[in-house]
Amino acid sequence: MTTISVIKADIGGLVGHSTVDPEILEFFENELEKNDLIGDYFVAWAGDDISLILSHNKGENHPLIHELAWRLFNEGAKIAKEKKLYGAGQDLLKDSFSGNVKGSGLGVAEMEFKERPSEPIVVFLMDKTEPSAFNVPLYKMFADPFNTPGLVIDPNMNKGFDFEILDLLKNKKAIFSTPEESYALLGYIGNRHYAIKRIYSRSGKFPEREPVAAVSTEKLSLIAGRYVGKDDPVAIVRAQSGLPAVGEILEAFSKPWLVAGWMRGSHIGPLMPVSLENAMISRFDGPPRVVALGFQVNNGKLEGPVDLFEDVAFDRVREEANKLAEYMRMHGPFEPHRLPEQDLEYTTLPQLQERFKERWEDLE
Ligand code: F6R
Ligand code: MG
Ligand code: MG
Repeated sequence: MTTISVIKADIGGLVGHSTVDPEILEFFENELEKNDLIGDYFVAWAGDDISLILSHNKGENHPLIHELAWRLFNEGAKIAKEKKLYGAGQDLLKDSFSGNVKGSGLGVAEMEFKERPSEPIVVFLMDKTEPSAFNVPLYKMFADPFNTPGLVIDPNMNKGFDFEILDLLKNKKAIFSTPEESYALLGYIGNRHYAIKRIYSRSGKFPEREPVAAVSTEKLSLIAGRYVGKDDPVAIVRAQSGLPAVGEILEAFSKPWLVAGWMRGSHIGPLMPVSLENAMISRFDGPPRVVALGFQVNNGKLEGPVDLFEDVAFDRVREEANKLAEYMRMHGPFEPHRLPEQDLEYTTLPQLQERFKERWEDLE
């Protein structure tokens, strides 16, 4: 069995919240290179978030793997603090390690599976947005035949997929089966407070409850009870042979979906697919970005990555995203560019409104 763990954190930005420090990336690379707990690794980033893409044979939620990530992110944060990087250590919410990184501030997407004769995967990294930003693209990939003709053509995809979704506010989970429960599923995931956590094939081709996609769903504000940074999510998607083809997976990002999390975690903006080279954020601390790294998993080794959004075929959606960014920005402090009031609960806005509390009189 092979486990792919993508563990991520923002431990300090260069400059402000734009991107990561190359010296810190090098630190992670050196540490992982000499570590024999893992089979292989790739150190990636999107905006100001660093993701450790790890391949190993320890299974999901393994204390040794989580402890390794926790230790490295803490040591990395020390370097960030020495360099006075912005928000150094911001995502590390706990003082000590307690067996796994749940509630620690690190984001985790993990999948344990039996490697197929050929095992292509795509790892997605997003910045300036939140876990439910994966809802639209994952639904398109695994449940929308207009995106994924494999659902119509491939007998192994024809039976559909099971979606495990989380209610992020109430901390509950439920599974919905597509295609027959698609409308019920959409009834939930159309709301940002629900996020897809895992997807399972119903074809019988994969061992029962072996995931084919997994998303990090940690909401930092809900863990800390205050605005502490962004819950910029990551995801792993397996591809081909009874699953969406790499091209069907990427097709789900061919439109600049509007997502929440731009500037101060308080604005809606277009999600722009970019190459690693363009994974730095700038305008209005954004616009929100997504990077796609393709790997062939080879007996625990990661062949790759291929920087999939580097392709000029995605120029058009980037252009469209820039146009949309312009349009959304035009609204300034007004909704729907700005998030609804209840979503600003964890930001600094309530502190400000506290000052004007007394000004409000009851109407007759
Ligand atoms: C952070 C983010 C940024 C910050 C903004 C203000 O990921 O989304 O837009 O919220 O730069 O940051 P502070 O309050 O630290 O000055
Ligand atoms: Mg940041
Ligand atoms: Mg970030």
